[in-house]
Amino acid sequence: MDKKVYFKIEELQKENENLKKENELLRTVIDSVHESVYVVNEIDEIILYNTESEKMEGLDRKDILGKKEEDVFAQPYYFSEEVTKKILKTGKPLIEQPYWYNLNCGRKTNMIFSAYPFYYKGQIIAVYVIFRNMNQMSDFIAITLEMHKKFIKQETNHHDGAMFLLDDIIGITSKMKKITTEARRIAFRKSPVLIVGETGTGKELFAQGIHNASLYSKGPFIPVNCAAIPDTLLESLLFGTVKGAFTGAIDTPGLFEQAEDGTIFLDEINSMSFSLQAKLLRVLQDKSVRRLGSKVQIPLNCRVISATNMDPIEAVKKQVIRSDLYFRLATITLNIPPLRERKEDIEVLARHFIRKCNTEFGLFINDISEELINFFERYDWPGNVRELENFIEGAMNFVLNKDKILKLHHLPEYFGERLFLLKDTQNHKDSQSTVIDNRTLQSALLETEKSIIESTLMRNKGNISRSAQVLGISRQNLHYKLKALGITNK
Ligand SMILES: Nc1ncnc2c1ncn2[C@@H]1O[C@H](COP(=O)(O)OP(=O)(O)OP(=O)(O)O)[C@@H](O)[C@H]1O
Ligand SMILES: [Mg+2]
Repeated sequence: MDKKVYFKIEELQKENENLKKENELLRTVIDSVHESVYVVNEIDEIILYNTESEKMEGLDRKDILGKKEEDVFAQPYYFSEEVTKKILKTGKPLIEQPYWYNLNCGRKTNMIFSAYPFYYKGQIIAVYVIFRNMNQMSDFIAITLEMHKKFIKQETNHHDGAMFLLDDIIGITSKMKKITTEARRIAFRKSPVLIVGETGTGKELFAQGIHNASLYSKGPFIPVNCAAIPDTLLESLLFGTVKGAFTGAIDTPGLFEQAEDGTIFLDEINSMSFSLQAKLLRVLQDKSVRRLGSKVQIPLNCRVISATNMDPIEAVKKQVIRSDLYFRLATITLNIPPLRERKEDIEVLARHFIRKCNTEFGLFINDISEELINFFERYDWPGNVRELENFIEGAMNFVLNKDKILKLHHLPEYFGERLFLLKDTQNHKDSQSTVIDNRTLQSALLETEKSIIESTLMRNKGNISRSAQVLGISRQNLHYKLKALGITNK
């Protein structure tokens, strides 16, 4: 072959290869964006439909590409006539247009789109449309607001009672991730939120996080612990008073008024009396409040988040929470599971609290022993995350400057005992099953002996003399047994 022709072919192949690469790269990029991208050619056939479009419309591109809009979509008329065909005719783009339509599955969706003509060598050969889903936009705004708040918090070190962000919530289990995503999604709405969870599960953390990611984040976050305040005082605190309402009353705005443009967090709502609950319901329904002793209704604009550590359905059944109030408060309900139902979160939370204490106490713990994690994972955590936080803080007080790993022996006796009790029961069960499993009596006895020695050592923080004394054997005998039973004294 002519050398020149050969080089030309090689050059064309290279160019072709580069174009293919570039094409693939652009398609990958288009498939990664959060907007839905959709392209039709000059004869109105769909030639591009990205991953976000598939997600948004619940359709598969292989059923779409190469087809006409009217053959694919349930409601094609408006779009093809008023958008794609129109642009093919006029050559004029349509920018930031709202568009409501029914998906093929029947669900309504709200979009904002921009559609542009694509010219090639002076001819319009396609129309490309970029859609943004309004629900997604509200998520985006919520995240932006949260970032903004975080930035302000870092810059000014300022907080108004709500210092936690949804970003600060630790959890790797799908349960926790789901709730955090849900919280971020609903933060942007105005509806009341009811947070349900046992003590110490993070209800207030979520309430603050939602406030900081919401449109109300510029306003104050006002927490009210309904269990800590006597009923009559709570009423005047919530709704405010006017001078002369009762002896000593002065003109004071209530907490609802103080929460203007912000969030009021009604914690332990199940502790509020039935009669006060009725008054609260009235305020929520009227979206206005009347100070005690006044006739004037003051309009309210604040987000209401409430919390209960009692199952609300049970609380309604037992007449602890009024059913009408419950329906009002629980437009959105977030159920935070107890720690024992999300054991995989324990280790990450423990590490988080260790880092926190390292900074506070000037320590350098960078790991946690497997044995301690094992204990933690078998414990039931009735006090949930707060209890874990206290455990870690307690243990960190027994850490020495040179220590790098947090171990069982760092736990203060009081905490340790709760875990050891657990180990004893577990060992008891283990040794019983050993016998049941037809192991010899001798090996069952050795197992039991080993576990008793181990737990005694732990209880006495590894002190041989004290453990030997408790076990009623000599120090030498204990040393011998440690060796014989393969026990390492940590
Ligand atoms: N997922 C989490 N990530 C990080 N810290 C958490 C998490 N959950 C709870 N905490 C911490 O645990 C402690 C208890 O949380 P919080 O006060 O929000 O619980 P609560 O459900 O309101 O408890 P109570 O019902 O007793 O009022 C707080 O110090 C909080 O920061
Ligand atoms: Mg709380």
